[in-house]
Amino acid sequence: HGSTQKEIRMSTDIEKKVGNLLNSSHSKGAVPSSLPSVSADLGHKQSVITIKTVSSQQTDSFKEKLSVALKERQELVQASDSLKEMISFREKLPAFKMKSEFLKAVQENQVLVVSGETGCGKTTQLPQFILEEEISCLRGADCNIICTQPRRVSAISVATRISSERGESIGETIGYQIRLESKRSADTHLLFCTTGVLLRQLVQDPELKGVSHLLVDEIHERGMNEDFLIIILRDLLPRRPDLRLILISATINADLFSKYFANAPTIHIPGFTYPVAEYFLEDVLEKTRYSIKSDFDNYEGNSRRRRKQQDSKKDPLTEMFEDIDVDTNYKNYSLGVRKSLEAWSGLQIDLGLVEAAIEYICRNEGSGAILVFLTGWDEISKLLDKLKGNNLVGDPNKFLILPLHGSMPTVNQCEIFDRPPPNKRKIVLATNIAESSITIDDVVYVIDCGKAKETSYDALNKLACLLPSWISKASAHQRRGRAGRVQPGVCYRLYPKLIHDAMPQYQLAEILQTPLQELCLHIKSLQLGTVGSFLEKALQPPDPLAVKNAIELLKTIGALDEHEELTPLGRHLCNIPLDPNIGKMLLMGSIFQCLNPALTIAAALAYRHPFVLPINRKEEADAAKQSFAGDSCSDHIALLKAFEGWKEAKRSGNEKQFCWDNFLSPVTLRLIDDMRMQFLNLLSDIGFVDKSRGPNAYNQYSHDLEMVCAILCAGLYPNVVQCKRRGKRTAFYTKEVGKVDIHPASVNAGVHLFPLPYIVYSEKVKTTSIYIRDSTNISDYALLLFGGNLVPNKSGEGIDMLGGYLHFSASKSVIELIRKLRGELDKLLNRK
Ligand code: CDP
Ligand code: MG
Repeated sequence: HGSTQKEIRMSTDIEKKVGNLLNSSHSKGAVPSSLPSVSADLGHKQSVITIKTVSSQQTDSFKEKLSVALKERQELVQASDSLKEMISFREKLPAFKMKSEFLKAVQENQVLVVSGETGCGKTTQLPQFILEEEISCLRGADCNIICTQPRRVSAISVATRISSERGESIGETIGYQIRLESKRSADTHLLFCTTGVLLRQLVQDPELKGVSHLLVDEIHERGMNEDFLIIILRDLLPRRPDLRLILISATINADLFSKYFANAPTIHIPGFTYPVAEYFLEDVLEKTRYSIKSDFDNYEGNSRRRRKQQDSKKDPLTEMFEDIDVDTNYKNYSLGVRKSLEAWSGLQIDLGLVEAAIEYICRNEGSGAILVFLTGWDEISKLLDKLKGNNLVGDPNKFLILPLHGSMPTVNQCEIFDRPPPNKRKIVLATNIAESSITIDDVVYVIDCGKAKETSYDALNKLACLLPSWISKASAHQRRGRAGRVQPGVCYRLYPKLIHDAMPQYQLAEILQTPLQELCLHIKSLQLGTVGSFLEKALQPPDPLAVKNAIELLKTIGALDEHEELTPLGRHLCNIPLDPNIGKMLLMGSIFQCLNPALTIAAALAYRHPFVLPINRKEEADAAKQSFAGDSCSDHIALLKAFEGWKEAKRSGNEKQFCWDNFLSPVTLRLIDDMRMQFLNLLSDIGFVDKSRGPNAYNQYSHDLEMVCAILCAGLYPNVVQCKRRGKRTAFYTKEVGKVDIHPASVNAGVHLFPLPYIVYSEKVKTTSIYIRDSTNISDYALLLFGGNLVPNKSGEGIDMLGGYLHFSASKSVIELIRKLRGELDKLLNRK
């Protein structure tokens, strides 16, 4: 677009809008329904926030008129009968009492930190207070408020809520924008977006031109994106003296943020909750008469311990306590406690116990919604299936069971928030998203498993561990509080009191716990200088070794050059908001006409795979997965075939039976299908796929499994394992940690001898031993042609990979040939 053209369009837009506004607000007895309604879905193309820049002076009078019209409309709507109830609801929220103090502080300070208990009205009210104030002071036209949310679901839900609080439909004054989806219009003055969307916006608009107020929500969670954003903002504030920054935190660690911003003032909103009774595992077991033994069968890895358990037939809980020195303070806890905590961390949640607790409440306790905290989608969907088959809870006339998960494509808003009919009980199965970002009012019972899925990063061994781990005391407190919003409640903790006492006070920052490659790419694309010196400015700077590893990885996959600058490939990867390895797999899939498999595998890797592992039918489930894999020795192929089989079954109306027979989760498969579409859109946005050419243009080799394995190799490199023969078996070695094991859930777990010499894998995890998850056996050719950078070995008689860890002997002419082929491939990947 030429800029003049844009301006002209803008001013006519404004003209039209002002006209509309004036007309509607002057027409007698105008009520919300007669107001201009703009509900635009701008679709995925609009992945960048475009803020109205009204530059020419001629528009000044329009702006004035617009401000007047906005004010008139606001007054009109607020006076209308239909909003009475809503207004009185809002006035009862604790945040309302702080309204004038808050607005005064916003006016007088560039940075403000606000804290308060969940549900007190921070997210829905604070941005709205600013909006109302600006509009009523006739500054509406210049008011552009952005409020960031860590998760997609909360951005949508909050924006929708505020729209109805203002008697509008979503996309008018209030809008949202999340990756690949938006509801906003030229009328939007308050926009909710995910933190990721704002970070990408900064690439085009580093000064955040046109933004008048920025609220960063849920800052207490210490998510990577938020920690990253505040480094940038702290540098930006002096250049944008008119910009107001408000940091919103749920718990009382507000001081930390205040200090970071030169002792910015803080406001605390006192909240109110009803008392919540608390039971720990000991009580729950007694109440439900549930035997926890089966839990230890789930305990992956520590088979020795499991055998010991079975031999001694001792109650595992008793044994656990024997290990723990009860008197020890957490700060200097004994090795015994630490070991026990570790052991418990390795345990999957015992869904049987969760089910028993739900059943217990339904049988014995009064009415009220139940909120269950689980760690991830896997468990949510497993428990969902379990409950549907439950004699009591499975009755859809009496129980409404709803999942709530952060990456759910759309939340069925009403069902989650609305109160069900009096004879029906609502049961919400959620991840820690329900801990502070989403408030369900009518919850009376909370079941807390005590864990959240957290990534931790072991920089020394280059290991990312995505494991359920114990939550912090602060989180446990939050979870309990969810039960006391409308009446006194009860919280059932499915872990012993001792564990609770040993929990750390606060959650560790994500930036300290995750691999940093995606973040590094982002820092480079925002031109924020060298990664190392930029990250030193963080609230809590990450380990320099973790930074070094990330940069090394990006160089290895060709995203950064030797000077640590972005290559064209790196730039493409910046535009794919996924792990760079997965992004590269997608690009390779499109280049080598193997797009469908790449989309499926990338979606499953980026989210979760569709296999469910029922405890009591594990062998059958393993066999089903194995039959998908055929003789490919590949978990990735297994999931690809499972997905293709599901597609086929769905087409022939046989979805349910197919999933049941093959131990697949239909919910996850549908999600993967959704994600595939989104990835396809991304590839088309960056010009790697031309949709008008039709699907066949990119899938010539999609059924060639050797090609699929080569694409996998390209994407997963440098996650390579050498298979070494040891007698009748194979041993596995990686460069960083030496010997590793294949995860017991892999189709490769029982294989003694592999047909090909290498294995690539998606993830190394450390539980009791180091396992590689999701692996694929690949040939040396795949590695040589598709792996990361090649170096001719010093003597010139072969090729080295992984810094000399892998060596291939080859003649000079073969080396030359391979280098030429790879040169061409690099050109394709790095095309502008
Ligand atoms: O951000 P904070 O946790 O302080 O609270 P909030 O999200 O602003 O929510 C304030 C109140 O609005 C909640 O207690 C709910 O009663 C209500 N609310 C709602 O009914 N529906 C929503 N989608 C969001 C909030
Ligand atoms: Mg909130």
